[in-house]
Amino acid sequence: MIIKGFEMNELTYNDQIGSILELYSEFLISENKKYNLTRIISPQDIIDKHFIDSILGYEKLKNSNFSTKQLVIMDVGTGAGFPGIPLILYDWICNNKISIRKMHLLDSNKKKTDFLHSLVNIISSDLDRDAIMIHNDRLENLRFYPKGIKKFNVNLKEVPTLFLSRATGDPEKVIKYINQFIHLNESEEVRLLYYGALSTILKIKSDKKAIEDNEVSDNHLKKLKGLKVPVRQIQPKGIGGITTTVKGEILDAYRFSEKNYTRISVLYSITNAPSVIFD
Ligand SMILES: C[S@@+](CC[C@H](N)C(=O)[O-])C[C@H]1O[C@@H](n2cnc3c(N)ncnc32)[C@H](O)[C@@H]1O
Repeated sequence: MIIKGFEMNELTYNDQIGSILELYSEFLISENKKYNLTRIISPQDIIDKHFIDSILGYEKLKNSNFSTKQLVIMDVGTGAGFPGIPLILYDWICNNKISIRKMHLLDSNKKKTDFLHSLVNIISSDLDRDAIMIHNDRLENLRFYPKGIKKFNVNLKEVPTLFLSRATGDPEKVIKYINQFIHLNESEEVRLLYYGALSTILKIKSDKKAIEDNEVSDNHLKKLKGLKVPVRQIQPKGIGGITTTVKGEILDAYRFSEKNYTRISVLYSITNAPSVIFD
């Protein structure tokens, strides 16, 4: 089933990725009850709707203008590891580690991050364990370095510049949390690749009627480009500090998995500009 799924979607297959995804699928099925991870639990659906879906949404980005070389990525609300784990496995095993240097997997649910620790122990024997970091926290509270330690003490290379998020509800909310994260961690510009239904994405702009995934046309994709997310001002807590203005915009939108069923992923830019300095 894995070989067939890869072939149908023109993905590079080898036996190593095949056996690791098989282990992943078996572990997900056997642990699902204990951790309440996903409603998708038939082997065929796990391959199509979790593994291949996770890989394809990102493959489209690789064919765009956005540079996808040696990225530090954070998968926000990763759940049982989607899309982050299939992506790093595919990049490392099938694409010579071209695109991903580090994958942070973040989920606020401890049961899910416990599952991820066990999973990574099982599947990463041939991989560099340091390339995958698991965080049990809420995105809006996560600090990459302790409060008070100045930016120059941090290995900045480890702070993500690309965020991924799949099936995490209203993207405007995800962007709000990313705003808070980049403000806390003094980042300036990041991208978010959001995997989700067009109707969920359009809610950012207005209350347009829900559009089924299989109705997504080229025109819909064109319309998404350039859509702005409401500008947010973040005030410092207490006296002193820097007020920042955070802006978001859709750079590109992709339709994928058309041979099986239609899905879209959308690339946002999110910038954080310091605006007012208080004494
Ligand atoms: C519907 S699941 C999606 C899981 C996975 N991305 C997928 O596609 O299968 C949403 C996940 O987001 C996590 N989550 C929700 N709010 C969060 C936050 N503020 N920070 C980190 N994780 C969060 C939840 O615990 C849950 O596991």
